[in-house]
Amino acid sequence: MKKISGNPYLNKKEGELLIDGILLNEILKTYATPLIIFLENRVRNNINTFNKVFKSVFNNFQCFYSFKANFLPEICNIIQSEGLGAELIGLPELKLALKLQFPPDKIIVGGPYLPQELIEKCVQEKIKEIVVYNINDLIKINAMAERYQMVQDICLRVNTQKYGTKLGIYLNQINVNKLKVIINECENLRITTLLSHYSTQMNNFDLFIKNAENVMDSTKILFDAGINIENINLGGGFPEAVIMPENQLKELASKIHFLVSNFEISFKNIYFEPGRYLVGDAGLLIAKIIKVTDDRWIFLNIGNHICPKFSKSSMRFYNATRIEEPHKFKTSIAGIIPTDQDVLAKDYFFTHDLKEGDMVVITNAGAYNLTFSNRFPYILPNIILVTDTNAKNIFNPSVNHDFSIN
Ligand SMILES: Cc1ncc(COP(=O)(O)O)c(C=O)c1O
Repeated sequence: MKKISGNPYLNKKEGELLIDGILLNEILKTYATPLIIFLENRVRNNINTFNKVFKSVFNNFQCFYSFKANFLPEICNIIQSEGLGAELIGLPELKLALKLQFPPDKIIVGGPYLPQELIEKCVQEKIKEIVVYNINDLIKINAMAERYQMVQDICLRVNTQKYGTKLGIYLNQINVNKLKVIINECENLRITTLLSHYSTQMNNFDLFIKNAENVMDSTKILFDAGINIENINLGGGFPEAVIMPENQLKELASKIHFLVSNFEISFKNIYFEPGRYLVGDAGLLIAKIIKVTDDRWIFLNIGNHICPKFSKSSMRFYNATRIEEPHKFKTSIAGIIPTDQDVLAKDYFFTHDLKEGDMVVITNAGAYNLTFSNRFPYILPNIILVTDTNAKNIFNPSVNHDFSIN
């Protein structure tokens, strides 16, 4: 059998596409396209690889899955069952994580917007850390912690200083002084951790290195101002696991370890918050060609509403109906949103023959596709979870209204 898209759970078998233990054609007897498929075994496999690599390099490493990459309860449940923590940005995710029984001491919550209700839930539930992007939020959290007579651990997100970025706290003299004053006054807060998350889909080691350096420089700035940081959180940003194989991940982890272990200040714990790496290549879209033009444009029965560019995924397109044929003829791929802007790929290497009704598999669509999808008024796809030879329907648009969480 030959792997497709570098994914060990996608194989060619006698001219057909085998998805984990089931032939695509079998699945398509029950489900029409468009269809979204998630591979449970690939999620588990990615978690194990990530854990194995980072545990072999760091003895003080903890992993928090970034729910925003894919917040389907069944996916988050798999992650929970593997013992990972959760990194969340809002109340719907927090409610979901608690329902799925993520232990509160493995939950980190925070972001650019911390409404009062979210702060209260975090404090009540004794979640591990609240991540603060805006210094003034510290005052609100302190007041809530005081009300509940507890001390809340805080992670400060520092600005990465990447060109144009506005997220996180910029540690200039004014802000450092302001922080000192607030920390002195806020007795119900403990600043434990610094977070720097540079970007998503980072295919270049240098970006990870810059990010680690940023967190260390920031630690030093705070140390010199009398603020001691215990832990660092380097965020996420890893590409899909098929894009960064285990040996590369290990090389990257070792480079980060080298930097951190040679730094003048030592840390109690190092955290990572991968999203895409764990779920990106565990998601597939199955679509159908609905139109072929003379100049080799094909139109699929999906579009950017369900397969958004915003997801920054490394999507790959295969003609599943002609999976054994060479994919080396330039083809452009359009979606079904009635605008010329709905282009999925241009001059993409695809099969010579293109026929209406051919099935197209889009790989690496497991992270951020649903997150950034929109409500363009087409029917939502069914979503199934494939595990070995089983296919379970986890979202049926005619029964379940929407896959949003609330
Ligand atoms: C703070 C933080 N951590 C982790 C992540 C997850 O990133 P990725 O899915 O690229 O690993 C994000 C994504 O935006 C983020 O903002």
